[in-house]
Amino acid sequence: MLAEALGWLLTPAPWWARRRGLVGEQMALLARHRRCRAAWAPHLAACRAFLAEAASNGATDGGTGGSTVAVLGSGALLDVPLDPLAAAYGRVLLVDAVHPWRARWRAARHRGRVRLIHHDLASGLPEAAHGADLVLSVNLLSRLPDPGAHLAALADSRAAALVSDVELIESQGDVELARRDLLAGCDLALTAPRGWTWKLAPAPELYPDRDLSLRVVAGWVSRTSRRAAR
Ligand SMILES: C[S@@+](CC[C@H](N)C(=O)[O-])C[C@H]1O[C@@H](n2cnc3c(N)ncnc32)[C@H](O)[C@@H]1O
Repeated sequence: MLAEALGWLLTPAPWWARRRGLVGEQMALLARHRRCRAAWAPHLAACRAFLAEAASNGATDGGTGGSTVAVLGSGALLDVPLDPLAAAYGRVLLVDAVHPWRARWRAARHRGRVRLIHHDLASGLPEAAHGADLVLSVNLLSRLPDPGAHLAALADSRAAALVSDVELIESQGDVELARRDLLAGCDLALTAPRGWTWKLAPAPELYPDRDLSLRVVAGWVSRTSRRAAR
């Protein structure tokens, strides 16, 4: 609790992000990651593998480093493979409301090739991301008030890939108790989709006898995704 409070005080962030509780959410996410590290490991590994693969397939300059990748919802870089991204692209834009110190230190190792952008992604993509060769949206979509608008913005990009939690599942042992759609019925229509389960809060993290998990999907955003979003 003390570490979370200190993190809230010491993390640089714009006033609007602090006022909307996004700094507090970021600190709570990092604290839950520390407590549920083993349960989260398969999800984080699956995200990193998908994004590294998307980055190598999406590199447009044959690895010469002249291209740009934008990572939306980069946060603490728990699920983002920064080193392979920086190896495949000359410029990496990390876009989030909050960039905790963990992300700042990792970015600094890449000597100016990784830029941190504070931006409210509920209001669209930042100007710098419009010219990116590849846009990656990472576990962000379900946190935005209008997932359809974000999906349409991704579909307008040169190339875009997405990872998102889509359903919240409550279970007790092997018995599923409830399942809730997190995207208000928005059809992602991803190309080459894959999926897995994120054990977000295994008992007793939130409830003494129930587990909370998320169904996660990943894939390329297509023109069809734009039509599905509207
Ligand atoms: C579940 S976290 C993603 C995890 C992150 N990729 C990581 O590796 O730590 C969701 C991220 O979305 C960001 N976010 C939520 N709403 C946002 C908004 N309106 N604008 C910008 N970022 C936002 C949060 O700050 C957080 O970093």
